[in-house]
Amino acid sequence: MKSIGIVAELGRETRVAATPVTVKHLLGLGYQVVVEKGAGEHASFQNEAYADAGALIVGAEEAWGAGVVLKVNPPTEEEIGRLADDATLIGTLSPALRPDLVEALTQRQITALALDAVPRISRAQSMDVLSSMANIAGYRAVIEAAHEFGRFFTGQVTAAGKVPPAKVLVVGAGVAGLAAIGAASSLGAIVRATDPRPEVADQVKSIGGTYLKVEVQEVMNSSDGYAKATSEAYNARAAEIYTEQAADVDIIITTALIPGRPAPKLLTAEDVAGMKPGSVIVDMAAGQGGNVEGSVAGERIVTDNGVVILGYTDLPARLPAQASQLYGTNLLNLLKLLTPNKDGILRLDFDDVVQRSVTVVREGEKTWPPPPVQVSAAPAVKTDVGTSTEGAAPKKKAGVSPAGKAGLFAAGIAALLVVNAVAPAPLPQHFTVLMLSVVVGFYVIGKVHHALHTPLMSVTNAISGIIVVGALLQVTSENIVMQVLAAVAVLLASINIFGGFAVTRRMLAMFSRGEKARS
Ligand code: NAI
Repeated sequence: MKSIGIVAELGRETRVAATPVTVKHLLGLGYQVVVEKGAGEHASFQNEAYADAGALIVGAEEAWGAGVVLKVNPPTEEEIGRLADDATLIGTLSPALRPDLVEALTQRQITALALDAVPRISRAQSMDVLSSMANIAGYRAVIEAAHEFGRFFTGQVTAAGKVPPAKVLVVGAGVAGLAAIGAASSLGAIVRATDPRPEVADQVKSIGGTYLKVEVQEVMNSSDGYAKATSEAYNARAAEIYTEQAADVDIIITTALIPGRPAPKLLTAEDVAGMKPGSVIVDMAAGQGGNVEGSVAGERIVTDNGVVILGYTDLPARLPAQASQLYGTNLLNLLKLLTPNKDGILRLDFDDVVQRSVTVVREGEKTWPPPPVQVSAAPAVKTDVGTSTEGAAPKKKAGVSPAGKAGLFAAGIAALLVVNAVAPAPLPQHFTVLMLSVVVGFYVIGKVHHALHTPLMSVTNAISGIIVVGALLQVTSENIVMQVLAAVAVLLASINIFGGFAVTRRMLAMFSRGEKARS
């Protein structure tokens, strides 16, 4: 059985790698947990709370000497020296940006796992620390902006006059951007967002924002969950939009980033100069060079025309308790994967893509970079071989040709006429109603967006109810064929009704956020 050491972070870091809640679960995986005295203090987790959860409160040497050491920030050289031989270090290591750190780690007979290198695949979402921290940071960016901005976000009509709503532009609708859009729109602001990936348009809309499309002949999809560099045509059109928007909006939150590159510069000094005094910019990418000319990492700058530019790089650490809880849960989920037998023994399986991706150093041997993992956030657009891919429009789905449609229509009309001519009453009448329902139903459902098919299904419960009533009336018929048909109708319609209720219930549960937490 190995022990897990939770060490105190250096400098101004307020987060901690485990909370009393995650400690309990770590113990459940068969480990012994030792927590450095005061490690959770800045996140409001006292030593007693860890002790109550079952951890031992120890000195720094003992915590660093554990078999598995959990950390938030990358270790310093001195901290690496404190690790025991054969220890496993897990934390955010930024291996792609810190070759010096990777080198320093390989100098020791240790294993180092970078939690921030988890691939963006759905199975690994529960360990994706970049997403969980970016989500918190996006929310906090709005709170910081609201604090600096001397007005309401929401519009109000009061006896003393009308207050217009604040206008917020969010640049980049990734994890942080979407969190910022959600937070700003829930405060009542008018929120607009840009992103070169068109697939985010629906997500922006669903949380109350308006997607500003940069109209160029180019489709940008993501094959690994992250964005790719934009073209010159895109950048030129986007620059025009940013100049227009900067003059109109009150708050800009920039989150644009392409992994492995410096952040793209999107707002020029002229754009900032064109903003109204009192406007606020939060440049979340300031740590990677910034999206805004004039922003400084970690600093609050006030421009000559009175615009505040925040380049804070510690946004998640400004909500330390929750950030630690989410970070600790990401770590816990990785440890669950690494401890399949719950026996306190860590087993690293290189056949598993997640475990391979996070491993930077294995027993003193450098294993970085891992082989690339291909995931697709949106289906890639296929283009014909031999034609230029630049500016190619996505191929349309092969549907029924116009001639085919006309043929089907004619066949339907012919069948209707034949049945009307030969069938005894009341069959022609029922058949006509059936044909009309098929046509109306087809067009109504066909025009509904895919995302709305599930709620549509629950609405069809009403129709299914009518079918059940009709089938129950027929089930007592003396004709065996009718009995069987009626029984099948009752069965299928009931499946639709109960399935519809189940789906509706799940959807409502998704939207009633926080209800459980509050009760
Ligand atoms: P992400 O990769 O999920 O999102 C980045 C978004 O930027 C993508 O949607 C991408 O399509 C978009 N983008 C790329 N090029 C663009 C362009 N030219 N114009 C407009 N959009 C463009 O990244 P995530 O996790 O949302 O993080 C966003 C930023 O926030 C990163 O720079 C990250 O390092 C930073 N961050 C900052 C924190 C802080 O405390 N300041 C904390 C956490 C994250």
